[in-house]
Amino acid sequence: MKTLTRRNALKSGIAGAGVAAILPVAGQAFAQEPDPIAASLPGNLPGRERRALDGTWRYILDPFDVAGRKPTGRRSFWQNRIETAETGLIEYEWSSSDQMTIPGDWNTAEPELHYYEGPVYFQREINAGPRPGLRQFLYFEAVNYAATVWLDGAEIARHEGGFTPFAVDITDILARTGAGTHSLVVRADSRHGPETVPGLDFDWKNWGGITRSVWLVEVPVTFIQDVYSRLEGDHLLVDVQLDGPSSANAEVSIALTGDGNASSVSTDGEGRAQLQFDVTGLQRWSPDNPQLYELTVSTASDRLVERIGLRKIETRGREVLLNGEPVYLRGISMHEEAFGPEATREVSQAEARALLAEAKALGCNFVRLAHYPHAEHVARLADEIGLMLWAEIPVYWEEIAYDSPRTLALARQMMRELVMRDRSRASVVMWSVANETPQSDARTRFLETVIADVRALDPSRLITAALNKNVDVGGVRDGEKVIEVRDPLGASLDVVAINQYEGWYGERTPGEIAQVSFRNTYDKPLMFSEFGAGALYGHRGAREERWTEDYQAWLYEETLKVVAETPGCVGLAPWLLKDFRSPRRWHGRFQNLWNRKGLVSPEGHRKQAFFVLQEYYRMKASSA
Ligand code: GCU
Repeated sequence: MKTLTRRNALKSGIAGAGVAAILPVAGQAFAQEPDPIAASLPGNLPGRERRALDGTWRYILDPFDVAGRKPTGRRSFWQNRIETAETGLIEYEWSSSDQMTIPGDWNTAEPELHYYEGPVYFQREINAGPRPGLRQFLYFEAVNYAATVWLDGAEIARHEGGFTPFAVDITDILARTGAGTHSLVVRADSRHGPETVPGLDFDWKNWGGITRSVWLVEVPVTFIQDVYSRLEGDHLLVDVQLDGPSSANAEVSIALTGDGNASSVSTDGEGRAQLQFDVTGLQRWSPDNPQLYELTVSTASDRLVERIGLRKIETRGREVLLNGEPVYLRGISMHEEAFGPEATREVSQAEARALLAEAKALGCNFVRLAHYPHAEHVARLADEIGLMLWAEIPVYWEEIAYDSPRTLALARQMMRELVMRDRSRASVVMWSVANETPQSDARTRFLETVIADVRALDPSRLITAALNKNVDVGGVRDGEKVIEVRDPLGASLDVVAINQYEGWYGERTPGEIAQVSFRNTYDKPLMFSEFGAGALYGHRGAREERWTEDYQAWLYEETLKVVAETPGCVGLAPWLLKDFRSPRRWHGRFQNLWNRKGLVSPEGHRKQAFFVLQEYYRMKASSA
């Protein structure tokens, strides 16, 4: 397996992990068309020596994208220039520009930027220099939506996709420029276009900016770039990929706590090695017993420790099996927004822990991380506290260009970046490739291509998608409705998931949900990946009155009866844990630009429906 560079990524059709986006975002101009320095993303970031570049950065707003479309010295923001007799007029000055705290979204950082969508340039100085025997990467956990990175005025990387990491090797640059203060400039452009992922319409706030941490990561010249572990029967398979000049035919030693002895193996000509451990005597990971072990991988120059759980997830007919036993997914869906009176995109580890703790309090063993890759620490926390996760990329609704090679390349890149980042996390049990996408040949081919990539990168997990537009085949009695899953994409999925809003969207009331039943035409597990209703916390009244907590609770009561009776249903992830920000939710009395389908208010107050679902999960857990 070669280190993916931009060129061989293009050949293989898959943008590699960390390989910068292949084409500029349609509708956006960048300063120039460089050949970005692609690099293999250093895996297992928390296990690495790294310096946070978070904190105060300067920023310049460019609402007309002038610097991007008409670059001249007067506004080449990527350069740290000041006006002199030689430079003449320079119409910006980083040292006197406004400041913003990174990571974070600009929408909540500055009130006047709440609705701003467009390019913002960020700048900070970093003290860095060559480090003998080490390579240095700039590592961005996420920039929404499209990023361009300059160091000392030279463009060094470009990435598209607001929720996955990318990195650029700056070793050679620092060797050339030497130790000292360097000017790092990042352009974040939050605009979406006809060929982006997601497209132009989505039901969440488009928080722009450097929304997760930035790191200066140091690794040995030849380093352990990727460790991928998964359970096969009673054996733990560990794949190791080295990166650097001494990757080939190198000795790799791997040890597992609780297993005592270390085993050694030599890498092949591509720097790749695989080892197996007999883990018969070790404990299996599960939400009830989130047992983790330390996997230590070392070479002559590098050492990396991964914390892993030993668990197997698979299907058998219409069942999902965890460690060989049927499991019922007591789930909830969740956007990446912290509790608080105003939501923000950045969710710290403590805030993520609070959200997952609320899911545990609800009685969950499963969380759907909607609708995009959440921060890396979420899966690590779920490993620790015991929650299974559904992870997904934002191929969302109908405004995705399913016939565009550019859009397909983006979806494949994002999926690869997500899988490469989290495929050793026990908590992640499902990869989802789409949400509510319209049934068409182009869409099905598009998603089948992404699915094939996932199966190649990670054969150890289940693949799903949240489907809708299912067919009402009509019941036998008046008023009855039988919704049958007929989406052709189901043939390529392991778990067929459907979103349905009977009793909220459409003409039925919760009292008529009992007339609706669901049928899965595939001999596969079925789960409900969404249902719900809006309710403003504290708004109480007759249960027939929409927007009351009472209506939402009634809808949950009636829907759960149908869920419980649906044949082959392996679980549910109702929509959703907490009210979340969306510019599409305009009702002045009940929404105020919040989607109110949360079981919990933004400040953390539990609505009546929370307790309805909690009781259902208590019953399901006790009868398991
Ligand atoms: C859809 C969609 C969600 C959206 C929800 C809603 O099912 O998947 O992203 O928020 O409906 O209407 O609230």
